[in-house]
Amino acid sequence: MINAAMTYAPSEPTIRKMTVDDFNTVYALEQMCFQEHAWHEHELYSQYHGPYAVNLVGAIAAPQFSRGHLVVGYLLAAQCSDGLLIENLGVAPAYRRRGIGSALVQCLIETLRADKRLVVVSGRFSGQRSPRIVTDVRETNGEAVRFFRSQAFLATALIPRAYDRIPDDAYRFEHIVHAPQPGFAGRGAS
Ligand SMILES: CC(C)(COP(=O)(O)OP(=O)(O)OC[C@H]1O[C@@H](n2cnc3c(N)ncnc32)[C@H](O)[C@@H]1OP(=O)(O)O)[C@@H](O)C(=O)NCCC(=O)NCCS
Repeated sequence: MINAAMTYAPSEPTIRKMTVDDFNTVYALEQMCFQEHAWHEHELYSQYHGPYAVNLVGAIAAPQFSRGHLVVGYLLAAQCSDGLLIENLGVAPAYRRRGIGSALVQCLIETLRADKRLVVVSGRFSGQRSPRIVTDVRETNGEAVRFFRSQAFLATALIPRAYDRIPDDAYRFEHIVHAPQPGFAGRGAS
């Protein structure tokens, strides 16, 4: 289990789907990243079991642990009418500014681009409106605002009093996910 004081020299992060074995670590990270605003355990549980949830973790190699890796970041997303809504995203403070948040968001973008089930379920991806990833960020959370801008998210609205538990306004950020061009075969294709 990670705690705030731990730090190791990480290699590239591995991004993968969250499993039930990650639950306690993700809950600890949620508390570390959001303190008094953190989700309660039952909220995380509901998210984990959501029918169209996409829950990812970012792990780094850590041979000193029996599992050989350490989960240091997570991203929780749910389906919304236009694509996917990032509900929560966090990286342990000791591992920030090492590309782990970016790797999680880029993996979500690729998931939306590739997952036909998500496209069908949303029902609006057939042409008129491009699928997108959206998220709401507290207006006062400058770190997260800069992070989402760095990932090519655009602020499209200011939502007054966006949260139940705190009186803050939020920026609505959106990233449009373009389909791969026909014939595109990936980097390195001849
Ligand atoms: C936001 C957060 C997830 C970013 O994770 P991260 O792993 O540190 O992000 P990355 O290393 O991929 O950063 C990518 C870019 O975002 C920008 N960025 C990230 N954190 C920043 C900061 N504190 N100040 C300025 N720019 C920042 C930079 O442009 C950075 O690129 P650079 O390091 O090459 O300059 C992390 O700071 C965090 O967990 N914050 C607390 C929880 C939170 O607010 N979550 C978001 C709202 S749901």
